[in-house]
Amino acid sequence: MNKRKYLIILSGAAITAGVIAAAVYLPGRNRVKTPAEYAPEHDTSMSEENETAVEKTVSSDAEKPAQGTDGIQTDIPALHNALASGGGVSHTGVAIPWTALTDTARMELVTRHFNSITCENEMKPETILGHYAPRVTTLYELEEKLDFTAADTVADWITDYNTVNGTEIRMRGHVLIWHNQTPTWFFRENFTIDGDFVTTEEMNQRMEWYIKTVTQHFDQKYPGLIYAWDVVNEQVMDSGEIRTDGDWYHVYQGSGEYIIRAFQYADLYTAPDTILFYNDYNECTPAKRDAIVSFLEEIRTEISPERKLGAGMQGHHDMETPSASMIEAAARAYAETADTVHITELDIKSSMGFDGTDLDAEFARQAARYAEIYDIVKKINADDTLMGHIDNITFWGTHDAVSWLKTFNSVGGSADGKTPQYPLLFDEQLQPKPAFWALVNSDE
Ligand code: GLA
Repeated sequence: MNKRKYLIILSGAAITAGVIAAAVYLPGRNRVKTPAEYAPEHDTSMSEENETAVEKTVSSDAEKPAQGTDGIQTDIPALHNALASGGGVSHTGVAIPWTALTDTARMELVTRHFNSITCENEMKPETILGHYAPRVTTLYELEEKLDFTAADTVADWITDYNTVNGTEIRMRGHVLIWHNQTPTWFFRENFTIDGDFVTTEEMNQRMEWYIKTVTQHFDQKYPGLIYAWDVVNEQVMDSGEIRTDGDWYHVYQGSGEYIIRAFQYADLYTAPDTILFYNDYNECTPAKRDAIVSFLEEIRTEISPERKLGAGMQGHHDMETPSASMIEAAARAYAETADTVHITELDIKSSMGFDGTDLDAEFARQAARYAEIYDIVKKINADDTLMGHIDNITFWGTHDAVSWLKTFNSVGGSADGKTPQYPLLFDEQLQPKPAFWALVNSDE
């Protein structure tokens, strides 16, 4: 970022930044509680996050940028404002684990730049249902065992923050139906890990109960906070066929019935203005894209006409693939079919062969790649012939130090665990990278 530009932005944003920082951190009055205060007895070890401590930035440069309580820059534009005014993106989101709530600097970054939050793991079935078989035989008994502690802690924090600061940070619910991070006992007789798989009729009942109980829990406790649910995640393979691994397949044997039913149940039980999403990775691969579009078309006919239907493009991209034209073609296809499109998990893996040595060059390539994607968003959003537009861009993590791509993970869109990864807009010290400026200054 060149210094002149930087100083112009600095003077414009400094006053706002000061006011916001003072409002958030005024001792005693506006402090938001930590996870420990909300739930002192709960074990926080379930987070998959890389627990690398966040280093506090102390610059010796006399012209160092103004910084917040713990070292984030407070004199730069808020990302969500920049994407709203520059790209017509109403929500700019970020995924966080509930353990982030105790990190003041990280949460200052979150609340400054983002107006939508996705829980990294806390709303997933495994967290709410629990990994271990619950020794129950009925849904009635199971309901007593559901654990909303982690998700509620995040929702409480955001609710309190909004109340104190007059902000409207909202949440994407993630996720109801998924083959990963969903305990196998949920699909089996008597809720045991080695029981036979239940019949489709039984599973329909369990699914309906789960979707109803979970969505109504949040709707009743936090009205209006969750404005979108990822109802179904990753159930189409790259070939375009329905996923053939995982317990949903074991029960439904290749029928897509559970996908459609999941949307019918979500339509029945969620607040009427909640947007219902089908969300997937490799979403730009043509065969997969076309199959998702067909599902969306079918779902549309099976839910109430007033209900908003969304297409979630995860956006776990490489530096080289998918090509810009593939991303645009997919975004267009989804925007022609769904009422809205969200980019739900955006991050960018390092260049092929990157060995971690020339970070400046890599950051420049990454900035160009983010700019390329944002240009597509702007193009789609300027096209009035499309039914839906890209209303949300959510980044999968606050900053490089905590990205899931740092380590090997077998989930789709993951990294190999060997190539050094710096996939996000803020560096390991929470400072904005060239990719941040490429989005914020994209019109210059
Ligand atoms: C998928 C899921 C996310 C997350 C990532 C990996 O994309 O949708 O919830 O688990 O994998 O972190």
